[in-house]
Amino acid sequence: MNFDIIHIEETDSTNRWLKECHKGVDPIVAWAEYQTAGKGCGSNSWESERGKNLTFSLLIHPEEIPANEQFRITEITSVALCETLERYLDEKAGIKWPNDIYVGDKKICGMLIENQLQGSKIKSCIIGIGLNVNQQQFLSDAPNPVSILQLTGKETDRKELLSRFLSAFEEAYYRKTISSAYRERLFRRGKESGYRDDTGDFTATLTDVTPDGRLVLQDTNGQERLYAFKEVQFII
Ligand code: BTN
Repeated sequence: MNFDIIHIEETDSTNRWLKECHKGVDPIVAWAEYQTAGKGCGSNSWESERGKNLTFSLLIHPEEIPANEQFRITEITSVALCETLERYLDEKAGIKWPNDIYVGDKKICGMLIENQLQGSKIKSCIIGIGLNVNQQQFLSDAPNPVSILQLTGKETDRKELLSRFLSAFEEAYYRKTISSAYRERLFRRGKESGYRDDTGDFTATLTDVTPDGRLVLQDTNGQERLYAFKEVQFII
């Protein structure tokens, strides 16, 4: 993969920009210094101070990945982000299912993956990533953000960080053992913790994630509970 990087001063959202403005060849990365309407998951927005972080999107055509295995894109991206971040941090980075990158109990990175499917194939895939790099203070009501600067006290060269991530992404893309690497890094794996679903709060142990990306929890009655994205919340 030889990513062409387009550096944009300002746009509403790099995911939207790639979808609507880019008509050239891929693989391509759109990196914006500032997004006026950065999209988070669901109806959330993504806070990122101008010029301080990495807010970028990749456009790929993953012909090798069938539509029913699209969760692999989440696995690849999450593992590549953790491995890249660990070059800068003293601590390990973990994956809060399905695709938030955490350091300790704090979120350092989020992603928004938008796949366009055609029959059993992925026609195109946009992977939007918001990585907190040099921001000192977070003002929105995002629950627990953190940046590399807050963790290390040091400024990070964002261009170098982006280029390291792209190399890690390419390596992870072809790695045979990516699913196990994803599962080994799961936040709270094997630990009893609090969760909330539409029946209320409960205690459970995170045991696995199914190949199609559903979370497997075992509650204190030994009952296995399976959840799709947004059906369960981690109580942090
Ligand atoms: C989340 O809510 O955790 C997902 C955040 C994804 C934010 C990134 S920033 C670059 C790309 N463009 C967007 O509008 N969103 C994603």
